[in-house]
Amino acid sequence: AKEKQIAVLPGDGIGPEIVDEAVKVLKRVARMFGYSFTFQYGLIGGAALDETGQPLPEETLHMSQKADAVLLGAVGGPKWDDNPGDLRPEKALLGIRKALQLYANLRPAAPHEQLIHNSTLKEETVRGVDLIVVRELTGGLYFGEKKRERTEDGEVAVDTLVYHEHEIERIVRKAFEIARLRRKRVTSVDKANVLESSRLWRSVVERVAPDYPDVTLEHMLVDNCAMQLVRRPASFDVIVTENMFGDILSDEAAILTGSIGMLPSASLGDGNIGLYEPVHGSAPDIAGQGIANPIATVLSVAMMMKYSFGDEEAARAIEQAVHKVLDAGYRTADLAGDEHTTLTTAEYGDKIVDMLEK
Ligand code: NAD
Ligand code: IPM
Ligand code: MN
Repeated sequence: AKEKQIAVLPGDGIGPEIVDEAVKVLKRVARMFGYSFTFQYGLIGGAALDETGQPLPEETLHMSQKADAVLLGAVGGPKWDDNPGDLRPEKALLGIRKALQLYANLRPAAPHEQLIHNSTLKEETVRGVDLIVVRELTGGLYFGEKKRERTEDGEVAVDTLVYHEHEIERIVRKAFEIARLRRKRVTSVDKANVLESSRLWRSVVERVAPDYPDVTLEHMLVDNCAMQLVRRPASFDVIVTENMFGDILSDEAAILTGSIGMLPSASLGDGNIGLYEPVHGSAPDIAGQGIANPIATVLSVAMMMKYSFGDEEAARAIEQAVHKVLDAGYRTADLAGDEHTTLTTAEYGDKIVDMLEK
């Protein structure tokens, strides 16, 4: 069998609930496609803080570095919201992404036919949407120098947005390469009318673009992009952008699919390891109720099969299983309507597993 080590980091809130379902799916996929997966569980986020005093314990990082792939739930919650920056659950996410050099965060959004009406947008706006946000993940505002101090003028807080040319170049090349396998359109999103870092971003994109003459490039300012995403989302193919813009635009894109509970992600670098997690957070408002939508995490595992294990067939099988469960009218609470059968998180995972072999 093909042996793979998978680090599993459930985290906080609904994290453990949705990760359980994704692991169920992986176990069935292993049987079907001849893998032998070893799952190693690690602490991250608030769960790690409570247990060890650190959001990202050395042991978790070490285990993840040695694994073939990392599956992550979500981190954060009200319990830790007053912690100082370095002792927040979210710090662990930034830490693991940076340590594993996962600079490319792929966030695809394509609504399933049966969910077109779940979007708050009109059917004709959402139909045909098939886009991917390629978010830079290890630079920008999230990782620049930060400061907070008291002055005679009151408190001052500073966050800095830093990009090196080489950081921009590698994410932009990733975006062009992804576009080549899709509809060959790249929209590079920035705020070049105001930010110096965006002007550098744009000039790097211009320099790199001639290497991909088969791909059509457009530049778009981020405020306009936020508007176009809800005005004519079907016209986008690949959106490449800096860390924070990508964070915000991908949550906006999520609603094109009907629910944030649908959106998966893959975080990749130049090395062999990839990290897979849903785009959504720990959803403290519904945690512990067994009603979270596990699809985003299950589809993240499909991305794992594709990007980490090069197995498109297994990836497709998972996606198909999810589609079949939706076609059969099963929903979690976030997507439920009167004509549907509402399932719990665990029941939903079971249904997907059942459909895998149908
Ligand atoms: P959120 O994504 O956790 O939740 C936003 C809304 O979407 C909530 O109403 C929630 O119930 C709903 N939702 C999210 N995922 C769902 C799912 N799978 N099924 C059904 N409904 C779902 O964002 P938030 O409320 O702004 O943040 C909550 C916490 O999560 C914060 O501590 C934040 O820092 C953290 N967070 C973590 C990650 C991550 O770990 N990758 C991502 C985003 C936010
Ligand atoms: C995400 C989350 C994280 C981010 C937070 C929790 C640090 O919102 O993965 O989208 O902003 O990257
Ligand atoms: Mn986010």
